[in-house]
Amino acid sequence: MEVLEAAFLKSSSTVKQCPKPNKPEYAFIGRSNVGKSSLINKLCKRKALAKTSSTPGKTQLINHFTINNDQWYLVDLPGYGYAKVSKKLRSGFSKIILDYIGNRENMMCLFVLIDSRLPAQKADVDFMNLMVENGIPISIIFTKTDKLNQKQYAENMKAYEQELLKLWEELPPVFYSSAVNGEGTDEILSFIEDINNK
Ligand code: GTP
Ligand code: MG
Repeated sequence: MEVLEAAFLKSSSTVKQCPKPNKPEYAFIGRSNVGKSSLINKLCKRKALAKTSSTPGKTQLINHFTINNDQWYLVDLPGYGYAKVSKKLRSGFSKIILDYIGNRENMMCLFVLIDSRLPAQKADVDFMNLMVENGIPISIIFTKTDKLNQKQYAENMKAYEQELLKLWEELPPVFYSSAVNGEGTDEILSFIEDINNK
């Protein structure tokens, strides 16, 4: 599948404000600065559909984008685990996120983005575990693969996946992406298409 048309629809601060849950949606979550907004732009072949920044904490609301003339939604969520914002804002993030995740019946998959350069971080593992325990359908996307050489990349991914297999019997679907060279975009879009067609 290709994204032929994409448009920003709405920013919401609560799940109540979100657009009607009348079509499938796919949300992107992960620590601040991991590359959620950049990947959404890459999937949509647009430079600035979702706002990106080198400063963590750019996305602070639930942002809905309509795809291919309103057939489905992509959702850009605020990052979690960003230590530099005030405590109040930080807990606000998690409230928005948990409210959204727990109450959005049309969310078909939550893509959890992980920086492929880092060893497994507690915040990510705890977050993913919470999702799995609550039956939320997740997929993992390891981002910024362009920043590693082949050897580092293979080693990091193997170590990370082994870490997760200590917790779970099997891994959820896993993707590897780069918003710079487009790695992974075809695979992610085919995965979405398969779910949409089910
Ligand atoms: P918040 O909205 O703050 O939670 O961040 P985010 O996860 O949406 O990250 P964003 O897409 O704004 O990207 C953060 C920074 O990482 C920006 O400087 C991007 O240019 C950079 N970046 C994102 N994806 C990639 C990638 O695949 N490769 C490289 N090299 N840089 C990337
Ligand atoms: Mg963002």
